[in-house]
Amino acid sequence: MSAETTTGTLPRAADGDIVLDGVGKAFRRGSAQAIVLRDVSVTIAGGSLTTIVGRSGSGKSTLLRIIAGLTAPDAGRVVRDGADVDGPRQDVRYVFQDYGQSLFPWARVRANVRFGARHGGVPRAERAGVADEALALVGLTDAADKYPWELSGGMQQRVAIARALASRPRVLLMDEPFGAVDALSRATLQDELLDVWQRLGLTIVLVTHDIDEAVYLADRVLAVDPGGRGLCADIPVTLPRPRSQVTTRESPEFLAYRRELLTVVMGT
Ligand SMILES: Nc1ncnc2c1ncn2[C@@H]1O[C@H](COP(=O)(O)OP(=O)(O)O)[C@@H](O)[C@H]1O
Ligand SMILES: [Mg+2]
Repeated sequence: MSAETTTGTLPRAADGDIVLDGVGKAFRRGSAQAIVLRDVSVTIAGGSLTTIVGRSGSGKSTLLRIIAGLTAPDAGRVVRDGADVDGPRQDVRYVFQDYGQSLFPWARVRANVRFGARHGGVPRAERAGVADEALALVGLTDAADKYPWELSGGMQQRVAIARALASRPRVLLMDEPFGAVDALSRATLQDELLDVWQRLGLTIVLVTHDIDEAVYLADRVLAVDPGGRGLCADIPVTLPRPRSQVTTRESPEFLAYRRELLTVVMGT
């Protein structure tokens, strides 16, 4: 990927692979234990964009939470930068689908984003600059003085992404981040995310139930088996970048990935 662009006070993330080694997880269901994930071993390359697909309830969010250190696995481990991930880390940010609940309604957009900078340990004197830069990255400079509830859903989700970026993460974990926005806004947000990813050199892991979105964004797609058998597909996506909502999505290669993944996921 092209990563030559520098971005002022937001640092380019250094590479740092995320290694999942034999990860397993079960939850109590009634009197029994239901296995959700079994023996998931995968190395997510630092600076890559990985998407996770699977049926509802297959364990996508659980896997993402384990990567985040928010949920402990029952078996195996997650290692990043040579150390076990056994709790949330300062340089990892989570973006949820439900942006409406994640933003502070009483604070203007700029203040919401500045809060991210504070959360990320940015010194007070630098917070305003970092917030403005993060807002510019997602095209929200003109909305800085508005309140979140004055904005459309797509713009609110941009604020949530800007707030995450303002904390200067190296890893962005996103759980169905565009699930609640309309199709056209969603396409725009996808392209903006790819742009930010390339400019900052982030490692992104994104959960989606949308196979097309998964292929369009990814370097690699992981599919989670709904029967608790672990990953049922691990597909590197070598479509050229930059990708285009028009030409990429109609290319034979895109359609072949789409078909392969649909076959796996529909067959599970
Ligand atoms: N904290 C929890 N306690 C009990 N069961 C859970 C918990 N979190 C998830 N589960 C169960 O694990 C399975 C996978 O959930 P989840 O990871 O949220 O799936 P997905 O994100 O793919 O829809 C579901 O059956 C869900 O009910
Ligand atoms: Mg989920």
